[in-house]
Amino acid sequence: MKVLVVGGAGYIGSHMVKLLGQQGCDVTVFDNLSFGHADAVLFGDLIVGDLADTEALEQLFETRIFDVVMHFASSILVGESVADPAKYYRNNFANTQNLLDVMVKHDVKHFIFSSTAAIFGEPQYTPIDEQHPKQPINPYGRSKWMVEQMLEDYDRAYGLKSICLRYFNACGADPDGELGERHDPETHLIPLVLQVATGQRRDITVFGQDYDTQDGTCIRDYIHVSDLSMAHWLAIQELFRYNQSKRFNLGNGQGFSVQQVIDICKDVTQKNIPVIYGARREGDPDVLVADARLAQNELGWQPKYPALQSIIEHAWQWEKKVHGK
Ligand code: UFG
Repeated sequence: MKVLVVGGAGYIGSHMVKLLGQQGCDVTVFDNLSFGHADAVLFGDLIVGDLADTEALEQLFETRIFDVVMHFASSILVGESVADPAKYYRNNFANTQNLLDVMVKHDVKHFIFSSTAAIFGEPQYTPIDEQHPKQPINPYGRSKWMVEQMLEDYDRAYGLKSICLRYFNACGADPDGELGERHDPETHLIPLVLQVATGQRRDITVFGQDYDTQDGTCIRDYIHVSDLSMAHWLAIQELFRYNQSKRFNLGNGQGFSVQQVIDICKDVTQKNIPVIYGARREGDPDVLVADARLAQNELGWQPKYPALQSIIEHAWQWEKKVHGK
């Protein structure tokens, strides 16, 4: 199978490329390396290019044949999306349209899209299933929801079949220790806490202690990046088997509080992790947990690393390798 992985040098994309390589796929990565890393592409060809560059896209599709396109490249910072929405509508929406248009032109009709729990907005019930109302509360979530809606229209009009996967909190690292999270700036909870353990940072600030949860800190559904990759692989099979557009929520269906994450990090690393209890971060809901039963039932997906302990162990193995402790 010939697979184009857009954003394949990034955190989740690079884990996907490794899995595709192991499955014997012919992989092409298209990435502008603005946040990705060339050395994270363990299989296939890396073509450095930008989705805004329609000529480069045209050339890519003229010179290579693809059975399926996977799209991981996007801007992901919620706060930044509020301050600079233009960047998010351009990178996440307009650039995705460039990609879809070149696919339609070259008759490539299978697409896997990295969506997000942020499309749901403030949870109206928990856990969140696929039917939950979509009322994103920031431009990041809106830009992803707009793509999902565009995909429905492209299916109806051009027969482009897609599977949208709504990630909850992607985390962890390749269990073999070859890949992991290398964001700059890093904003995600687990790598930040582990960087305190390696001495890269002095302390971790907990954003709010007055949420409507047992210990007062926010609850999230943390899902291992290798389990996410496996869900994508199963989604490709599903797309070829039924040729129907579908959407799935991906999480473990279990929530952990920020305090619990920090406690498990202390346990795994056996390091002192100084904690500062700070103010709430704007736009954080109390609880975000996925109902991922549809993915389990239809894709036959079963997370291999649902325990937060193993997620953090893998992330710690990576963090030690990168920051040498
Ligand atoms: N947190 C802290 N201190 C920090 C960083 C995070 O207390 O220094 C807290 C946050 O307030 C939140 C939890 O840790 O309660 C997890 O925060 P992350 O920033 O790691 O992840 P988010 O839940 O904010 O966001 C993730 C993705 C987004 C996506 C969202 C969808 O990073 O791209 O899930 O639910 F939109």
